[in-house]
Parts: sequence; structure tokens; C-alpha cells
Amino acid sequence: MGNTAIIGLQWGDEGKGKIVDFLADKFDAVVRFQGGHNAGHTIKVGDKTYKLSLLPSGIIRGKFSVIGSGVVVDPIALFSEIKKIEEAGIKIESEKLAIAENACLILSVHRELDQLLESKKGEKKIGTTGRGIGPAYEDRAGRRAVRICDLMDDKILTERLENLLFYHNLLRKSLGAEIVTIQQIIAELEPVRARLLTHAKPAFEIAKKLNSFANVMFEGAQGALLDVTYGTYPFVTSSNTMAGQIALGSCLGVADLHKTIGILKAYTTRVGSGPFPTELECEIGNFLRIEGKEVGTVTGRDRRCGWFDAVLVRQSIQLSSVKEVALTKLDVLDKLEKIKICVGYKIGDKTFDYLPQANHLWDQIEPIYEEMEGWQESSFGAKTLAELPQKARNYVKRIEDLCSIKASIISTGPKREETIIL
Ligand code: GDP
Ligand code: IMO
Ligand code: MG
Repeated sequence: MGNTAIIGLQWGDEGKGKIVDFLADKFDAVVRFQGGHNAGHTIKVGDKTYKLSLLPSGIIRGKFSVIGSGVVVDPIALFSEIKKIEEAGIKIESEKLAIAENACLILSVHRELDQLLESKKGEKKIGTTGRGIGPAYEDRAGRRAVRICDLMDDKILTERLENLLFYHNLLRKSLGAEIVTIQQIIAELEPVRARLLTHAKPAFEIAKKLNSFANVMFEGAQGALLDVTYGTYPFVTSSNTMAGQIALGSCLGVADLHKTIGILKAYTTRVGSGPFPTELECEIGNFLRIEGKEVGTVTGRDRRCGWFDAVLVRQSIQLSSVKEVALTKLDVLDKLEKIKICVGYKIGDKTFDYLPQANHLWDQIEPIYEEMEGWQESSFGAKTLAELPQKARNYVKRIEDLCSIKASIISTGPKREETIIL
């Protein structure tokens, strides 16, 4: 396979976890390179369901797993996730999980600030996962963050925390929150500090190990439309989610990525606020939510649902150099009589083949739709193309044509084996 990236091409929850797990068998290692425990990747194997937020999904198959330098790590959340996975029968030793020592930490002050700011914004909130992702990345860019390697030395840790809390306490005072002391944060970290350091490795050593493998998988979190630079700003996450981020966040270099597989849901969903031109606030939207079990893995919020939007997907494909996709959740559309695909936008008397970044135009977008016949037969669990109804194949072909890509995988159910390889 060569070194391959798995990138969500919509607003997240495209089924990356399922596809990473499905393919992981052919890979030596799986690397997370951005985001944090805002991700929720669901993997179904037999009658077991695993929900991963920070651990690379390859851990389920016992693959060497890396949390790269571009990830923000909440150590308490990490060990509670490890505990759950270990209780489910998967042992995670320090040789199996390497964490880049220069990755920045998410601390309780980040989580609290995220939630405080969201609660103050009321109607205008972004709808974050409340896990401190934004504030942690802000502190990284503001050079105030505490990195994993800072935990190695008491004096450095105290200095770094002084610097960080000076800033946070200024904000907390103005938001009416209590002041936090260095001792409080050190006490929070104490139960996980030593164990976290057993996984910490210099980025170049991780790179050396990854370079010794023929097939490394890079597991994207979130989706291209949540990218902080190219997504639907400001309704985005705080990291770059595109394939370009891999070189910066995985410990490997630009030349080490050989292929990108985009993950596309056969319709569109998003959690949280922000524009969604093809959203269906009607019976069909409800149908997709129920049929697709569209409830957020991390926050339990209902996902907003709508038709497939080829305009947005074409942008994601272009920006991450995607030639090949895995199309997921095709089975969710099985019962629909008619299915629409958005092929362009109209704003006033102008047509657009992209989503304008200017927020004032978003309310005026009218999607231009193509309508296709639904197949109204079951595709659930299909393992070969021949098992797919002809009209379902037509739908896949239309998406391929509209987006100039090839679907190399079609997913027809949440389990590993409910998958067609083309
Ligand atoms: P991720 O964040 O991209 O990994 O996606 P999530 O795990 O948050 O959400 C995808 C959901 O759809 C999970 O509950 C998966 O088990 C489920 N799923 C994945 N692929 C398929 C599929 O082809 N059909 C159906 N019905 N469910 C799927
Ligand atoms: P996976 O990897 C879907 C969304 C949040 C919110 C915005 C900002 O499972 O696809 P944040 O907490 O990151 O500051 O929230 O981004 N969001 C996701 N939506 N799937 C995800 O991850 C997401 N991670 C963040 O709902 O709208
Ligand atoms: Mg998810």
C-alpha cells in the first residue's frame, strides 16, 4: 500500500474509524497527526464496539501506534481511554504506543476556558466538543503551552506553568472564574505524569522507526471542512485537518506520504453550528439521522443531516490531492425514493462552484440539485459490486464523475466485513 493517509472530506464522522480499522491489517503502523480527543472514531468488530478519541484506530489490530507532534494530548483523557480499551481485552504497552515528546498538553484550564467561552457566546457559539482543543492550540501558537517533555523536569514544569497560568488567570478573572495555582495543575498531572513519560519519544526517533516500515497509515481526525484555514471558518476546529498537515504533525517528512484516501459519506452530516447548504430540516433529514444513527460519538449530540454536496467535496478533494475515496454509509439511503446531489450554488443571479468564504453570503445560498432515482432495495452488508442494486451503482458513478475521483472502497455497514473493495 505504501504510506497512506485517511482524510475525512466533509465535516467529520465520515466513517474514518471503520476504514482505518478495515485497512489497518495491511499496515505496520498507524499515526494520528492532528486534533485531539475531540475525535470520535467507531470501530465494530463482531459484536464488540470500540470508540476511540485519541488512540490511533490501528491499536485495535495491535499495530504500532503513534500520537504525533501535531496532536494536542489530554493525558487524563488518554489514560481513561486506554483503561477502557484494556478492559475490552486489548493490552497497550509502552512499546505499542509512542507519543511525540513535543506534543502539547490539554490541561483542565483549557477545557474550562473552552466551555466558559462557549457558554458566554450563547446563540453565537461554535458548538465545540468542550474538550479544550481551541484553547490548547491557541497556547501552542502563543508559545505558552506545556509540552510532554516539560514533565521531565520539575523546575521547567513550574516555569512553563507559571507562564501559562499568568495568561489563563488574566482571562479567568475577567470571565468570573476562580484563579488556578501551579500546585493544582501539578496535582492533577501527578497520577499520569510518570506513565505518560514511558510513552514519550523524540519525534526523530519515532520518524526513524516509522521509516523502517513499508506501510504507515496516517489517520485523519475531523474533516476537511473543519480545517482551520480552509474550512467553514469560524465554524471549524483549531487544527489543519488536510493531508498537508501530515508532514507537520506526524514526525515524518513531506516525501513520506505516498497516497491519500478520502473518506466520503454518501450524504452529509455536521455537528455543531455553521453553514450547511444542503441541510434537510425535514422528514428526510430525520430519516437520515435515524437510519444512519447520526448521534455524535463524543458529545452525544444529534448530527445535522443533508444531501451529498459535490461542491464542498470537490474543494476538499482539490486541497488534499485526493484521487481515490472510500464511500461510506451507502446503505443508509436504501429506502429513499428520490435522492438529490448538490452540484452547484446559486447566490442571487450568480452561480458558484465553491463555497464563498465571505460569511455574509452563506444565508443566501440556494443549492442547485440533480435528482436521482433511489434503489429502494437493501444494499446493507453487500460485499461485492454485483450485490449492489444497479441504481445504487449509478449513484456511486455519479459521485465519482461529479468529483473526478474513483471509489476504491464502498462501505455498506458498520462492520469490517460489510465492505466492497473495487
Ligand atoms: P469517524 O469519526 O469518521 O470515524 O466516524 P464515526 O465513527 O464518528 O461515525 C460513523 C458511524 O457510522 C459509526 O457509528 C460507524 O460504526 C458507522 N458506519 C461506518 N460505516 C458505515 C456504513 O457503511 N454503514 C452504516 N450503516 N454505518 C456505518
Ligand atoms: P471525527 O474525527 C465531527 C466539530 C465540533 C465543532 C467544531 C469545533 O470524529 O470526525 P472543537 O471541539 O474541535 O473545537 O469543535 O468541530 N468537531 C467534529 N465534528 N467529527 C469530529 O471528529 C469533530 N471534531 C470536532 O462539533 O463543530
Ligand atoms: Mg466521529
